[in-house]
Amino acid sequence: MFNQLQPVPTDPILGLMTEYKADTNPKKVDLSVGVYKNEVGNTPVLAAVKKAEEYRFNNEQSKAYLGMAGDVKFNELMTNLLFGESDAVNSGRVKTAQTPGGTGALRVAAEFIARCNPSAKIWVTNPTWANHISIFNAAGLQVEEFPYFDFETMGLKFDQTIEALNKVPSGDIVLLHACCHNPSGMDLNIQQWQTVADIAKKQGFTILVDSAYQGFGHGLNEDAAGLRLLASQVDEMIVCSSCSKNFGLYRDRVGAISILGTSSAKAEVAFSVILNVVRAIYSMPPAHGADIVATILSSKELTALWHTELDEMRTRINGLRSFVVNKFKEKNVPGNFDFIANQNGMFSFLGIDKEYITTLKNDYSIYIVGSSRVSIAGVNDSNADYLAESLAKVLNK
Ligand code: LMR
Repeated sequence: MFNQLQPVPTDPILGLMTEYKADTNPKKVDLSVGVYKNEVGNTPVLAAVKKAEEYRFNNEQSKAYLGMAGDVKFNELMTNLLFGESDAVNSGRVKTAQTPGGTGALRVAAEFIARCNPSAKIWVTNPTWANHISIFNAAGLQVEEFPYFDFETMGLKFDQTIEALNKVPSGDIVLLHACCHNPSGMDLNIQQWQTVADIAKKQGFTILVDSAYQGFGHGLNEDAAGLRLLASQVDEMIVCSSCSKNFGLYRDRVGAISILGTSSAKAEVAFSVILNVVRAIYSMPPAHGADIVATILSSKELTALWHTELDEMRTRINGLRSFVVNKFKEKNVPGNFDFIANQNGMFSFLGIDKEYITTLKNDYSIYIVGSSRVSIAGVNDSNADYLAESLAKVLNK
């Protein structure tokens, strides 16, 4: 049975992460996977997480099953974190279930959408996170792209976005990134969110918001402004969220899926389908990470500590953006990279050809995703000169 299988190419992001780990070059630089790194290149456990883990260690009463929706307290707190003070939440139209990471949330969403409308097309930004396409395809759904990022200007091509969305029919799904667009770092401003909301209402398509970087762009509330605007205006929507980055809980796999229904009763029905989907895939999510998030968010002291740590991560990345631009100028890297300073979150495109990316990896141990996406958080004082000098050498050849 297995003998007929053909090998599958390694994942374009996680495969690089594995290659980087195996690389013995002391000068190696990892700009591949979206993981926050501090000034010495480490990804330490947040202090708020450590304290919550200590609390959990001393107070956990049982490891009996939790149920398909996971941790109820976590779900309530995540709903508030995402939607804020909102009529949709107050009227019971939002239901949230804990999932194994943001990927788990997206996979549950995909199966849920397939139950709602097996012929729904999922419209994603061109480009988008590569795994979006795999996740929806895995649930048997067709993925289509709409224009979003302009490699000529390294900004948005919003006129073309509007034109394309005006053709998306009712019954289809449009997937938007809440903030810190992965891979481009280019986000919609609030007027653009409003334009998209207006088109969604006119056309009748449903929006799925992927919120994987809340707090990494401009702040927790600022980064949720688009999805909150939508929630106040549309009848239905789906939000998939992740605590990997903002709580630094990557390997603990903590995320959530939230459904906004036309009424509390309709949301309840949709939620029963979500739980049914969950039961058939993984029964219920793991408890540890969600309990840590719930412990932090239900303690004033731990929430304040977490806010400080999240602010530090965001400030460091934003500072790195200007630092990288200046470093590239100082080392005469050919091209204009000023756009990097104006983008959000962990990622930007360098906009360089694949052959250069391969040379950077093979000859300099600098790891960049094949699309030329770089994770800015991987830059620090010790590797910035090497990175800029190597890039200058490769691009000037
Ligand atoms: C990324 O885009 O690098 C992260 O979201 C990690 C992943 O799973 O791909």
